[in-house]
Amino acid sequence: MDLIEYIDKQDHLADLSEFLKIPSVSAQSEHKADIERAAQWTASRLRAAGIATVSIVPTKMHPIVYGESLHAPGKPTVLFYGHYDVQPAEPLDLWTTPPFEPTVRNGKLYGRGTADDKGQVHIHLRALEALHRVSGKLPINIKVLIEGEEEVGSVNLWEFVNSNKAKLKSDALVVSDTAMLAPGVPSITYGLRGLNYYQIEISGAAQDLHSGVFGGAAPNPLTILCELFAKLHDDRGRVAVPGFYGDVAKLSKAERKALHALPWKEKDFRRTVGSPGLTGEKGFSVVEQLWTRPTLELNGIWGGYTGEGSKTVIPAKAWAKFSTRLVPNQNPARITSALRRRIRQLLPKTVKFTLEVHSEGKPWVAPYTHPFFEVAHRALEQGFGKRAVFIREGGSIPFVTQMHDTFKVPCILLGFGLPDENAHAPNEHIALENYFGGIKAVARFYEGLATL
Ligand code: BES
Ligand code: MN
Ligand code: MN
Repeated sequence: MDLIEYIDKQDHLADLSEFLKIPSVSAQSEHKADIERAAQWTASRLRAAGIATVSIVPTKMHPIVYGESLHAPGKPTVLFYGHYDVQPAEPLDLWTTPPFEPTVRNGKLYGRGTADDKGQVHIHLRALEALHRVSGKLPINIKVLIEGEEEVGSVNLWEFVNSNKAKLKSDALVVSDTAMLAPGVPSITYGLRGLNYYQIEISGAAQDLHSGVFGGAAPNPLTILCELFAKLHDDRGRVAVPGFYGDVAKLSKAERKALHALPWKEKDFRRTVGSPGLTGEKGFSVVEQLWTRPTLELNGIWGGYTGEGSKTVIPAKAWAKFSTRLVPNQNPARITSALRRRIRQLLPKTVKFTLEVHSEGKPWVAPYTHPFFEVAHRALEQGFGKRAVFIREGGSIPFVTQMHDTFKVPCILLGFGLPDENAHAPNEHIALENYFGGIKAVARFYEGLATL
């Protein structure tokens, strides 16, 4: 049977739904058993795709699924990377249908992980399965690494990579964990921002205090935390930390021109955001702000009383989670030191603080001249009927940077999500046309690599 004919005949969604129903939330320890189940499920589908050697490798946190099929002598070897873990589904009441009960509405499949990243991993599992079924073998040598800690910073992955360097060696890294620029615009991503993630704790009094008896004289850690964050940006939207921009690479004229020529519409972006207006660093276009400039974002802030009614209290402690997105050539560790120094300067002596570093990750930008990119181009054209564009993205995938640094191989990021598909938010979904187009394009891509 013909490859595309075979792909068209399969009930891909029934299989994907099984995967999506497993609530493999890496951040929440109550889902530990679900993480294990998702790893098992992934391993079983790798075997079904003709990848005979599959192992589930335990780590300090969540297992890594690794498989390889090296039976195509003389053909390229690619490493496919993805993640089976998902972001927490909360707030649950904002989902139209429950996050772990996948549902099709208006040509879209809804559920946590549909776009990020189970749906996109499944595209590759199904493409490989089809190739294997139709010709009885896989056309190239393939290594597959699917991890369960991406959404919490891939903390234990680095150790695995370091102790398995020879095993992971390949001619290219292939990843589908990004988005298309817009509907109908297949996209290859050549740049990602890096991410440093922090949690700060501010401590004042030895215990919570009555705000009438003590208010006016005792320090309020919550107020001080708010003052701190108010001072971390200036009135031009820049991060007010000395040294923060010191290593930021200037965008070349040629690249700026290429980025501005992309079929990207600010109007669509504004609609997706949905706020009354946009903000950010003055002097840069939105695309430049998103893809080429570093940021500092407050992700969560808490402390004191937030329950029903009122409680007059000066909290003893206050907390915040915050992160920075990094661009070439910023150095994550140097950014952490600069931030710590600035926070120490800004906080009054009336409180103490601890700054925890949850994860640090470098940015990644790379050339796209390797012949594999031309194969990707042709494959995307076959799957989507249109030539792909090259884009950068604002999100982060720690593994891509690590692999590129370690092996210096081309990294081919074929994204099948869309920017408005609510990754990390309620009502996450994937457009079915991109999911099905993705399976065909990826199958053609792996097939095409064998002809090089
Ligand atoms: N798939 C995303 C990364 C992404 C999203 C790349 C959109 C390009 C466009 C990934 O799962 C993710 O969410 N990564 C985290 C980083 C991590 C260290 C927690 C992120 O970017 O916040
Ligand atoms: Mn992802
Ligand atoms: Mn994600």
